[in-house]
Formats: sequence, C-alpha cells, structure tokens
Amino acid sequence: MNTNDIDNLKRAAAARAVDFVEPGMRLGLGTGSTANHFVELLGDRVRAGLAVTAVASSEATQALAQKLGMTLSTLDETPQLDLTVDGADEVAPDLALIKGGGGALLREKIVASASARMVVIADDSKLVDVLGRFPLPIEVVPFGLKATCGHIERVVAEAGCPGPLHLRHGRDGHPFVTDGGHLIVDAALERIPDPLSLAARLAEIPGVVEHGLFVGIAASAIIASAAGIKVLQHK
Ligand code: 5RP
Repeated sequence: MNTNDIDNLKRAAAARAVDFVEPGMRLGLGTGSTANHFVELLGDRVRAGLAVTAVASSEATQALAQKLGMTLSTLDETPQLDLTVDGADEVAPDLALIKGGGGALLREKIVASASARMVVIADDSKLVDVLGRFPLPIEVVPFGLKATCGHIERVVAEAGCPGPLHLRHGRDGHPFVTDGGHLIVDAALERIPDPLSLAARLAEIPGVVEHGLFVGIAASAIIASAAGIKVLQHK
C-alpha cells in the first residue's frame, strides 16, 4: 500500500468520526496527519452551519482550526469536553495506545482526559497485537536529561522491555522541542508486556513530564482498511 492509499484510509476514518459530532458539542482536536483530516472535514461541516466549540491539542492543530474558521476555546475556559478525536501510532486490541509520534502527547493526553469520550481514528497499519513496535515517546524536562534517561532505562528493563533510548531531533538537526518546551526521548521497546504497569512506573520518574502510553482512555477506535471501516469499542 502506498502513502496515498494510507492517506485515503486516514481520511476515511476521519470522515466516519465526523458522524459522531453533534451540534453544540465541545470537542478536543488531536494532532497529526489523521487528526488533520478530521479537522478539515469538521471545518466543512462548520462552514455549512454546524456550531461546535473546539480545544486544540497542539499549536499546529490550533493554527489549522483557526484557518478553517472554527470557534476555538481553551481548557481554562472549557475544562470539560464532550468528545476528543485523535490519531495514534499504535492501537492494541483493548484500545491501549501509543501516541506522541507527532510530539504532542502531553497536550493530547490532557485534552483526551478532559473529554467524556475519546475516539481514535487510524488506518489499519496502526493495529497491533502488543504495543511497542513503535518507539514509545517519553516527554522529559531538559534539566537532568542524562539522569532521567538512566532512570527510564532502569524502569523499562525492570518492566521486561529493555530498549535503547534516542533523544528526538527535528529536521533542523536540533533536539525536538515540544509545545510545552520539553524534550522527547523515544524508547525502542519492541514489546511492552504490561502497558498499564509501565505507564505507572514511568509516571513516577522525576523529570518525566508524560509518556505516550494511553491506557484506558480511548472509548472507541475507527479503523479504516482496504476492506472497509470497523469501529472497535473499549470493553
Ligand atoms: C501526535 C500523535 C499522532 O496522533 C500520532 O503520531 C499519529 O500520527 P498520524 O495521524 O500522522 O499517523 O500522537 O503526537
């Protein structure tokens, strides 16, 4: 499947998610190429008269939604949202996710957690039996980076998924800096046997701001494949 085909699947999943939107909803907008399709398709509905208020999970999504004329809010003004729609890097059968490939995991998790419901949209290449093939993004503060990485290495080894850590760099060759001014360390773990317990252990490390394991957050996942669309529900 080429990049164009995958992009069409992303758009198809996003189009189905637009059906979940009702007038007056307070929406969380995700980040990334799949989420961008949702924002664009939602923008069409807004131009056609649909009234919704949206909170963006990144500066990039904020800029896109603004350009499309959406009514935007913040979590300070609108702390409770009805629905967040976002992409993912990996989706497990129980709808545990790896997110943060686009570097927006902190705000994405805050926005999703402020929502009554999170719906994931993805093409079927994101479906996995076990999380971990996609390197796990971990957002850290710049201060004490080496010490924090040492701590992360010990925790992932104890969790049964040792793997090298890589400080993420941007296209300019400099360390990638998140919207919150933090760094991202990508942990190539290959297979995460117990995402819930690893999530708890990572969250305890001083210097770790957030990690890309979203466990028990997504309510549904809209997965688009060449065979059609299926909607998975969290059990
Ligand atoms: C950004 C994310 C994205 O949702 C994830 O990386 C998927 O991206 P894409 O839709 O471009 O494949 O978590 O932080």
